[in-house]
Amino acid sequence: MGLESRRLGAIGVEAFGLDLRREVSEADWRALRELVMQEGLVLFRDQPMEASVQIELGRRFGELENITIDEGPVDASKALLTNVDPQGRTRDRDDLKVQLLAINEGWHSDSSFRDVPASFSLFSGVTLPEEGGDTLFASQQVAWDALPPEERAMLIGLRGLHDYEQAYAIRGIDMTSVFGGAAPSATHPIARRHPETGRTGLFVSEHLFAIEGMPAEEAKVLIRRLVDLCVNPGRVYRHHWSIGDLLIWDNRSMLHRAQGFDPRHPRVMRHVRVAGSEPAIAATS
Ligand SMILES: [Fe+2]
Repeated sequence: MGLESRRLGAIGVEAFGLDLRREVSEADWRALRELVMQEGLVLFRDQPMEASVQIELGRRFGELENITIDEGPVDASKALLTNVDPQGRTRDRDDLKVQLLAINEGWHSDSSFRDVPASFSLFSGVTLPEEGGDTLFASQQVAWDALPPEERAMLIGLRGLHDYEQAYAIRGIDMTSVFGGAAPSATHPIARRHPETGRTGLFVSEHLFAIEGMPAEEAKVLIRRLVDLCVNPGRVYRHHWSIGDLLIWDNRSMLHRAQGFDPRHPRVMRHVRVAGSEPAIAATS
């Protein structure tokens, strides 16, 4: 049985017929990569896997990003998003590391603050709270398709500033003092063309704080309206995690966000992120 899928909801699909923990043929691999790009989000259930397996899967999508999450740059094998300290205790709500995790509760695509943002993300649950901690997804391509032509024309050519300094600052965290240097930021097209499928989508997020050449207040209103268009409740898929779930998504088309959870309960997620191969490409029509 080869790769099959069925719709999850408004967006995304659940995949069947492929055990990612076993040898995946080149044909199945190409079909899976295509499915992720076409649908934006693919879920595999009941496939608990070791970190090494998840990392090797990520490597088949492309070179991995070295994600800075904890104490400086870390190997992808340690890419855990967790509220558990090295001694196995859950961290307090006011612990800086717990607060830093809260940035993921804003709608975003991974590594938009880099000049070359992430392409694919592979996310699995290692330890899950009974309540909360869902992950929500929305498509920036579906939102683009919903825009009237005159508004699309107005957006093409605009560039936005993705700024983590401000994303943390609005949550009361001074990133410069935490990390000892300026937070990363990058400008990208507001309307982007997917480098592999050619499909156009928005490229906005709640980590986007300015649009080049546009007055600040006007930009703020526009960004809010475009994010709201993407995350219209009728267009969102909300994933409640079970052990063994693996979600693969394409950051070049999707937004996602974490739902908060009671930090007294341990939650450990493993995140493998694939580096993009080129800067975001501006849409031309
Ligand atoms: Fe993320």
